[in-house]
Amino acid sequence: MPLVSMRQLLDEAARGGYGVGAFNVNNMEQIQAIMEAARETASPVIIQASRGARSYTNDRFLWHLMQAAVELYPEIPVSLHLDHGNEPATCISAIDLGFTSVMMDGSLEGDGKTPASFEYNVAVTKEVVAYAHARGVTVEGEIGTLGGIEDGHGSGEVHLTDPDEAVEFVHQTGVDALAVAFGTSHGAYKFAQEPTGEVLKMDLIEEIHRRLPDTHLVMHGSSSVPPELVAQINQYGGALKPAWGVPVKEIQLGIQNGVRKINVDTDSRLAVTGAIRKVFAESPEKFDPRDYLKPARAAMQELIAQRMRDFGQAGHAGDYEALSLEEMREGYAAAAAAV
Ligand code: G3H
Ligand code: 13P
Ligand code: ZN
Repeated sequence: MPLVSMRQLLDEAARGGYGVGAFNVNNMEQIQAIMEAARETASPVIIQASRGARSYTNDRFLWHLMQAAVELYPEIPVSLHLDHGNEPATCISAIDLGFTSVMMDGSLEGDGKTPASFEYNVAVTKEVVAYAHARGVTVEGEIGTLGGIEDGHGSGEVHLTDPDEAVEFVHQTGVDALAVAFGTSHGAYKFAQEPTGEVLKMDLIEEIHRRLPDTHLVMHGSSSVPPELVAQINQYGGALKPAWGVPVKEIQLGIQNGVRKINVDTDSRLAVTGAIRKVFAESPEKFDPRDYLKPARAAMQELIAQRMRDFGQAGHAGDYEALSLEEMREGYAAAAAAV
């Protein structure tokens, strides 16, 4: 099946009451790990690439790797999504390349660091929605800002999403999905101790979902930072500080309250690094990259397959036929004409 619009994947997830993991990639092994996990668990999946990933891989390599993925795994519905597009031009170049979904993160200015005004956010997001929907492509926006700057994203300031602003933003922009800030942050060091209901504002998610029942909510910074992966990295020469991520049960609670897309990158990085460090430490005589990239790929597959089961997307790959982007375009045009 060709790459599928993310809107269709999330509409189906809403109908089925489950969430869909959006996993970041930077190379062939990560794409293979995700596709194998999707096949193992019969899951639809979102593969996402950041600006950094696009420049690391070069867009053309990324594109052809994704073509190989859809060719080799025809039974798996896959969306290719731009993570944290920083300005309309970045989103437009992704759409022109063939991404079936983009995030216009106008919660920050084009530098990806300075918190932006509501008016700026609406203006850039509207521009992207017009371009994307005319091509059947999905748009995710963001209201509020996450904490965490260690991966280069973000202002370091947390601005929890204001539900009134979220409602106004969705009405003014027409986004398909909305990233909300409710206490998570990017990277491995999210919390100084195990997070409680005080830290993760689930009631905020509940309220936003109640007021925007047709908008798919997105949870960024959703890595769980498994202690055994942190321990493995440190056992084999790493130097990670004690770290807590988002407990899976909190994500599952979010899914019950309208969260449909769950962004995970850090956990994959931890799985890959732990496996590579183990080989380097236990077999220092090895120097064939396959000797450490194969276990790294397998470790990431295991992690992702578990998340697919946790999020409930497992078993849903065969539920529906893909709609073409042209059909999605017609749907957006018909909805606009009906208003
Ligand atoms: O939200 C950030 C993602 O983890 C992507 O990170 O910009 O280092 O590729 P990156
Ligand atoms: P983590 O750093 O928790 O994996 O979050 C990734 C993310 O939100 C990508 O947009
Ligand atoms: Zn993010």
